[in-house]
Amino acid sequence: MTITPAKPSMRELQEREHGIGHDYAKGSPHIRHHTIRDRLIGNLHALVQGVIDRNGQCRVLELGAGHGTFTDHLVAAGAQVTVTEMSEPSVRFLQSRFRRNPNVTVLYDKDGTAACQAGPVDAVVCISVLHHIPDYLGTVDQLIDQVVPGGAFLSAQDPLWYPRRSSLSMRLDRNAYFLWRLGQGQLRRGLATRLRRRRGVYDEANEADMVEYHVVRDGVDEEALRRLLAPAFKKVEVQQYWSTQSGLLQAAGERFFPPTTFGLFARDRR
Ligand SMILES: C[S@@+](CC[C@H](N)C(=O)[O-])C[C@H]1O[C@@H](n2cnc3c(N)ncnc32)[C@H](O)[C@@H]1O
Repeated sequence: MTITPAKPSMRELQEREHGIGHDYAKGSPHIRHHTIRDRLIGNLHALVQGVIDRNGQCRVLELGAGHGTFTDHLVAAGAQVTVTEMSEPSVRFLQSRFRRNPNVTVLYDKDGTAACQAGPVDAVVCISVLHHIPDYLGTVDQLIDQVVPGGAFLSAQDPLWYPRRSSLSMRLDRNAYFLWRLGQGQLRRGLATRLRRRRGVYDEANEADMVEYHVVRDGVDEEALRRLLAPAFKKVEVQQYWSTQSGLLQAAGERFFPPTTFGLFARDRR
């Protein structure tokens, strides 16, 4: 008799990838590169300021906050923040980090449903998280239902939808990533991943295939998200930019290469 091992849940996979001591900065262009980070922080301040001007307060729901790198900026801008995390070690880190801060509440969201019932809120923020969620369109639809009039939605650091990108854009992006992996001394892992991706084979028990869900599939459909947000918000902006891990290739790509990544900034909920 063959016993098929139970398929791990998304929470278990996220916890394997984002476990105790996970370094959220390593391999995160939006944390490591000041051009991307500064624009993102500027957007967060603009979001909080704009909502406070309209609504007199800014209660933010921040999905998948990791270790709270951007929670700090939301709080500094004047928001009260509810952060969610699917990884228990990250929840513990956040609870300890913000234990004396009455402006931060931490939610352990084991299956991704708690965030969809955490409202009403003035704004939803998803930084480098939508591409981890298999049904990100369904999730965003439920999230924006919780945003009150005058509120906002912001996402950042998701890969642009691959079918809309040129083969040059895809090649530059993949080669830049591969070179960075080589620089980390991970030739074997880089090659193995490349071969698997080329064959389009996804292993539901392997966190490398399941955690970066839409990075290893087709990217995230920025146009579908824009269409979803447009009827609900008075202004929706898609910001496209080049993003890669290596500092040198980031600097070169910002000047010469096509965008790979996007953020969305939707303001003034109807
Ligand atoms: C790439 S990290 C980004 C962390 C943080 N936002 C940052 O930019 O530093 C993605 C995080 O989202 C969490 N995550 C993935 N899916 C989630 C979900 N549905 N709800 C809450 N957290 C989720 C993961 O555990 C992980 O910590």
